[in-house]
Amino acid sequence: MNLLDKIDKNSLPKHIAVIMDGNGRWAKEHGRPRVFGHKNGVKAVRETTEACAELGVEYLTLYAFSTENWNRPRMEVNALMTLLVETLRKEISTLNKNNIRLKAIGDLEKLPPKTYKALLEGIENTKNNTHMTLILALNYSSKWEILDAVKKIAKKVADDEITPDEIKEADFVSALSTAGIPDPELLIRTSGENRISNFLLWQIAYSELYFSPVFWPDFRKAQLYEAIIDFQQRERRFGKISEQIS
Ligand code: IPE
Ligand code: IPE
Ligand code: MG
Repeated sequence: MNLLDKIDKNSLPKHIAVIMDGNGRWAKEHGRPRVFGHKNGVKAVRETTEACAELGVEYLTLYAFSTENWNRPRMEVNALMTLLVETLRKEISTLNKNNIRLKAIGDLEKLPPKTYKALLEGIENTKNNTHMTLILALNYSSKWEILDAVKKIAKKVADDEITPDEIKEADFVSALSTAGIPDPELLIRTSGENRISNFLLWQIAYSELYFSPVFWPDFRKAQLYEAIIDFQQRERRFGKISEQIS
């Protein structure tokens, strides 16, 4: 039986989030500069997006650039921003062909103007697509997002729209940049690092975590299928006991 046949199409995660990691080490292994790794990561983005769309996963979130990534050498940051513009422009027609809507989360306005513009164009040009939503986390960090949500709610309190006692979980959720997007059931991180790196801290409260040893540029449909198969073998108890689940 091949990997695809092992996936139960009736219990797919609705939302998969991915920390795409290992581009630099992949490049090093190939004796090439780090940017070569980022360029080769685009193929993995394409494959993962296509595989999710084929399966019927409704949301795919890809962590592409963290607020901490600004601290990398300037040449690498510039190359990443340029690659983003190129990739966004190139891939929009494919997204439209596959009925995929593009969204983004993060402190987007602080991106370089060209990157921001390409992103907004991509979002605008795909906004009516309905088969799947691809969410890019760009200049994203979870601590930024949580603080930003707190500020929005504090303003409402200051404006007498709500009292502190009235604040509910739903109010907080709708103040996050992921408002309207269900929490990911499955979070994948590539490259063998076992950490979250400031990604979706609120939203992954009950996500299943899957760590793949593969560097991101080598991630293909087969690796995604393996992650989903692993996910489907887990028992998600949400605080209950096993007997209450089955
Ligand atoms: C992930 O790969 C891509 C980004 C963070 C933009 P890395 O660039 O972090 O690759 P490693 O972790 O150094 O191998
Ligand atoms: C996390 O990867 C950010 C992205 C994948 C965009 P990093 O490579 O930046 O994470 P750390 O710094 O090693 O934790
Ligand atoms: Mg890394």
